[in-house]
Amino acid sequence: MNLEVKIGKMTMKNPVTTASGTFGYGSEYAEFVDLNLLGAVTVKGISLEPREGNPPPRIYETPCGMLNSIGLQNVGLKNFLDEKLPYLKGFDTRIIVNILGNTIDEYCELSSALDGKVDAIELNVSCPNVKKGGVLFSNNNDMLRTLIKEVRTTVKTSTVIVKLSPASADIVMQARICEEVGIDAVSMINTIPAMAIDIHSRRPRLSNIIGGLSGPAIRPIGVRMVWETHRAINIPIIAMGGIMTAEDAMEYILAGATAVAIGTANFVKPTVTLDIIEGMKKYMLIHGIDDINSLIGGLIC
Ligand SMILES: Cc1cc2nc3c(=O)[nH]c(=O)nc-3n(C[C@H](O)[C@H](O)[C@H](O)COP(=O)(O)O)c2cc1C
Repeated sequence: MNLEVKIGKMTMKNPVTTASGTFGYGSEYAEFVDLNLLGAVTVKGISLEPREGNPPPRIYETPCGMLNSIGLQNVGLKNFLDEKLPYLKGFDTRIIVNILGNTIDEYCELSSALDGKVDAIELNVSCPNVKKGGVLFSNNNDMLRTLIKEVRTTVKTSTVIVKLSPASADIVMQARICEEVGIDAVSMINTIPAMAIDIHSRRPRLSNIIGGLSGPAIRPIGVRMVWETHRAINIPIIAMGGIMTAEDAMEYILAGATAVAIGTANFVKPTVTLDIIEGMKKYMLIHGIDDINSLIGGLIC
């Protein structure tokens, strides 16, 4: 049975990775999950300098999901390269590093420092461009194109993935732009901006007021977006958004995903990634499928 998939130059032994920000730097989960069994580990978004993130409360459980406004807390590039990366390199798995910046130069500096040292660089483009009045890169197609073109030119060895936001006006168009400038793959979907209110105190549930919604509540939106995007582009898609079980993962593969990332589910059950890999194998066995690649985009309409 073949579970191996290819994302750009990166070959994954199976299609399952972790969604950035929900699996720390891998070490936090190593007690529960044999990292060698994962197709890839995707780490928390890294910025040039360490960030403290937003003050609490910064997570809030909602029906079938959660809101978070962590504020991109992370150890910064230097600590990542000195401490976190050497640890991850000790495992037989692919390493995907999610990066974030507030200027194109920051993204390029991060990309060039990571190029060749990690298997793939995933750009979180849902960040404000401080040089353009704080407009999110993902909210402006011209800005997005300029950013990813620059990063594309900077990175020579690692696979480049752009993580798309479901809050952008046209996610399919943005995936097309990624393909046009030579990006290797897209990942989707990031969280959906949302909020909740404590009606008794009349205060927002999150200190940042607005947070990102994740979990099963967003899965049907993710599946629809992956399906629409798969029909429009030829580069691979790493799908995420509410995957809790192998059945959910298969839904995304049939919609057109080459690989899947598990996010919020890790908070519910730390070993869920392994259950999902086993469940995918079972599905293939039951349906007589010997290569997972033959199921990608296999939806029958
Ligand atoms: C607590 C938390 C932190 C996250 N941090 C990041 C991040 O640093 N960079 C990023 O691109 N996405 C981040 N995300 C978004 C996830 O990677 C993923 O796209 C989203 O949660 C949808 O998947 P899920 O429903 O399986 O969680 C974060 C999500 C959560 C819940």
